[in-house]
Amino acid sequence: MRHLLTAAMPRDEAIALLDLAEDMHQIQDRQLKKLPALRGRTVVNLFFEDSTRTRSSFEIAGKWLSADVINVSGKGSSASKGESLRDTGLTIAAMGVDGVVVRSGASGAPALLADWIGKPVINAGDGTHEHPTQALLDAFALRHRIHGDAARGKGLDGVRVAIVGDIAHSRVARSNALLLPALGAEVTLVGPAAFLPTPAADGTRLGLRAETSLDAVIAERPDALMLLRVQLERQAGKVAPSVGEYITGWSLTDERLARLGDAAIMHPGPMNRGLELSSRAADGDASTVLAQVTAGVSVRMAVLYSLLASDDRSAQPASADHG
Ligand code: CP
Repeated sequence: MRHLLTAAMPRDEAIALLDLAEDMHQIQDRQLKKLPALRGRTVVNLFFEDSTRTRSSFEIAGKWLSADVINVSGKGSSASKGESLRDTGLTIAAMGVDGVVVRSGASGAPALLADWIGKPVINAGDGTHEHPTQALLDAFALRHRIHGDAARGKGLDGVRVAIVGDIAHSRVARSNALLLPALGAEVTLVGPAAFLPTPAADGTRLGLRAETSLDAVIAERPDALMLLRVQLERQAGKVAPSVGEYITGWSLTDERLARLGDAAIMHPGPMNRGLELSSRAADGDASTVLAQVTAGVSVRMAVLYSLLASDDRSAQPASADHG
């Protein structure tokens, strides 16, 4: 693996990454926070969009592996003066950094950067395209909830996951739609018709079953419900359905929560409480919201380690190697 640009990867590669994250999770648990693995390496977090979880956890992950981590954001950098992504990337690479973590509002920006700079690039979320480390941490948290300390080596075979909400605008949904089935999960996409991706000839969306009725899917008693943030900032005044209609049809209300049994309640954050889910759902025993955040550090340690711990510091541009 030279870069991490997509969650599309073979099952064995995904399980190897999740197992490595399990090792990192043990280190977190034991408070042995610093490993020397990336001593002398420098990682730049290049964030052109706001973030709390992803940026902080990449910074923590890098520091716990003893890397030097520099944060560069769109605001406050020369990108705000009109510098192009290519020039920003080449400038950072010219300083001798070892890897770049990038979040951008432009779908495909991390892949372009990977071609241009000849350093390992990690996609921390690009537009409505992908958010691969989010999918990996979601898989980690779900696998850990199901298998506990015996998770190592296992996939998510037969685990029924419903991803609910604004699928069409969601990079989290797109990456999970690639990764979870590769691990054996049975994924159903749920949302208002306007929020579902365009169907393929066989009626599937992103290659998956899609439903518009959350109540019908809850009646099937899924093992996990993954609620997506309604991205009000991407709706540009054309919220369809309305907020009220969304709550009526697709919010995990207290009433729906009571019908859900002990299914895991997942959300990538940040949450719109009262919109995607009630506070009782967000904070209850079945919620994995904070476990997902914790998993984010372990998974990002595993990804940084996998890409940067080797002695070969001369990575070449490799556009085809996006796994
Ligand atoms: N889940 C997620 O990407 O959150 P942030 O935007 O806070 O990084």
